[in-house]
Amino acid sequence: MKSYETILIDKAGGVTTIRFNRPDKRNAMNPQLHRDMYDALTELEFDDETKVLVITGQGEAFCAGQDLKEYFYEKKDDPRGREEARRMSHAWRHQKLRYFPRPTIAEINGWCFGGAFTVVASVDIAVAASEATFGLSEINFGHIPGGLVTKVVQEIVQPRQALYYILTGEPFTGARAAEIGLVTMAVPKAELHAKVMDIAATLMKKDPEAMRACKEVFKAVTPEVTYEDAWYWLSSKSDQLTYRQKGGWIEEGIGRFMKKEYRPGLGTPPPEKERA
Ligand code: ACO
Repeated sequence: MKSYETILIDKAGGVTTIRFNRPDKRNAMNPQLHRDMYDALTELEFDDETKVLVITGQGEAFCAGQDLKEYFYEKKDDPRGREEARRMSHAWRHQKLRYFPRPTIAEINGWCFGGAFTVVASVDIAVAASEATFGLSEINFGHIPGGLVTKVVQEIVQPRQALYYILTGEPFTGARAAEIGLVTMAVPKAELHAKVMDIAATLMKKDPEAMRACKEVFKAVTPEVTYEDAWYWLSSKSDQLTYRQKGGWIEEGIGRFMKKEYRPGLGTPPPEKERA
């Protein structure tokens, strides 16, 4: 794996961790970070060693949002550069990360502001340190939560709470982020990494093709899709999964249940080698 200017990548036991690596700037996303993330996710999306992807921050911040100086201020008289940064920023979070073929987890270790909310929203599972500080700070500098921030908070956060934090810019804790639906759960910072690794271990035991299909259907069958369209879409996805797994879910999954080798209601089957 090549090295990058603004991110660190580490692979261990099936878990690939991408770490935003601008701790002196509280991991704010400058145009180079957007380029690096786009490139890294493109490399990793069909990487056999990556069973689960974790995104976190180096130092005391997860990500302080867009780099207010490099992304906005320095681009104010450079429409071409601004457009390039804007498109790259959108592409890695909403095209690459949101539809990453393997499960993704955000390990939110500290400061998390503005544009970083779309990183949180694009991953499958977001685990925050209860002590982390979140904020939609845009109103504090006279702006709106742009990019797709307003759209994603409307989708995942309780609407009254979302608008409150958009309008007040008031910071809130990781524990509060879990209460309002922004993150999946919050745990004490001392337990954060262990919890993320625990979830990653659970995800790695599942069938990767089924996992990918679960993600794809969940993200496709949005409330705007009619029941009839959703039904056709899910039926087709089920058939596609059968093709991708060569019938594995029927033969192996259901077949082993019928042989009374495990109870699907209580977990995944033990590996082949433990069966004898
Ligand atoms: N953009 C650019 N630089 C940043 C950002 C940012 N978003 N956040 C922090 N930095 C830089 C600071 O300019 C400073 O750089 P310097 O040492 O070269 O002067 C360095 O990071 C440390 O910042 P401090 O403010 O000294 O750090 P502190 O730990 O006291 O506070 C905090 C951290 C709360 C994150 C604060 O830096 C802050 O409010 N940052 C802005 C957060 C924000 O509003 N982000 C934008 C959201 S909106 C959007 O993403 C579109």
